[in-house]
Amino acid sequence: MVDGPADGADTDTDTGAGTGTGAGTGTGTGTGTRERTPTRVTLRSDLRASTVDGLIALIVTGAVFALLYARIRSRASSTATVMPFMADDPGGFWMYFLSQAFGWSALLWAWGTVVLGLLLSGARPAWLRIPAPRLERLHRTTSLNTIALIVAHALFFAAELINHDTDSWYGSTWTAFVESFVPGGYASGTGRIAIPVGQAALYLAIPLGLLFYVRHRIGARAWRVMHRFVIVVYVLSVWHTLLYGTNVWYDGWFRTSVWLLQLPIAALFLARLLRPARRSQRLAAPGAHPGSKAGWSLRLTGRLLAAGTLAVLLAVLITGRDGGRAEPPADTSSTHNHD
Ligand code: HEM
Repeated sequence: MVDGPADGADTDTDTGAGTGTGAGTGTGTGTGTRERTPTRVTLRSDLRASTVDGLIALIVTGAVFALLYARIRSRASSTATVMPFMADDPGGFWMYFLSQAFGWSALLWAWGTVVLGLLLSGARPAWLRIPAPRLERLHRTTSLNTIALIVAHALFFAAELINHDTDSWYGSTWTAFVESFVPGGYASGTGRIAIPVGQAALYLAIPLGLLFYVRHRIGARAWRVMHRFVIVVYVLSVWHTLLYGTNVWYDGWFRTSVWLLQLPIAALFLARLLRPARRSQRLAAPGAHPGSKAGWSLRLTGRLLAAGTLAVLLAVLITGRDGGRAEPPADTSSTHNHD
């Protein structure tokens, strides 16, 4: 568990259930009484609190890298089938495999932070004994680390592009920057869609995650409304992975597992919509709904979409049809691009 120095009694919450007030840390007076000075959770205090979680993420990334590298060397990895030139020279492409490893830890951390967020904003299960402030802090630190992991994933991809570019250093750096970070800059194969989808996830994650730290300026309500859309970041991340990850390129148990990992999220999301922690977010009968008709329709649509997603995931589980490619592409010999 991560313990930040400035937020020991933090009640400032991003759950939709909190007050958005900030809280206090005790300061000893030497007389046995403790004064409580209000402090606000800041980006700096949360960054400090993120260290342990960040170290664990790095260890996980290292382990995934070792596994991916070993699988490339033995040609067991499907990346080796999609891009055989990488398996011919694994050492020359280590940054690519490290980028893949950061991609997986980013996805795992995104999964964790979404689960925590949904546990906080929906009705919390009785068996979950961890106090809400701790869950909230963990939710914030895992969110910050998710953003860092995505950035590392994209940076190592860009570094790999530079590494294999024969242009001048500034020419290759510029090309790598455009291909990795500018929507539409990557102009070949599935990457034309998959890369902008990943970029959209990153560029949405930054404001939707970090606006929390300026909610006193924009208003707690405005922040809460915007933060709700963070689920879109997660959906884009999963879409990007299933579309472009060469380790989940083909049909098979690993790709199916990535789908199945989404079952708890879909179930929690549906539960959160059906039984939100905030009374005002409950769906009353059309006539009894306190807000506008459009708001009521939006809430109903959200619930139907969540139920539909759950049904699709169950269908993947039952049929085993995970949308993977059945055959290796005819020509896999060219560049870093894969179609
Ligand atoms: C600027 C944004 C991004 C760029 C440029 C980018 C780039 C790439 C590329 C080129 C691949 C293919 C690697 C392969 O051969 O498998 C890939 C795969 C992947 N990406 Fe991203 N990505 C971005 C955002 C994201 C985000 C937001 C996530 C998740 C939170 C993510 C997670 C993954 C995962 C899990 C894979 C599969 C790796 C594998 O198959 O081993 N990426 N990404």
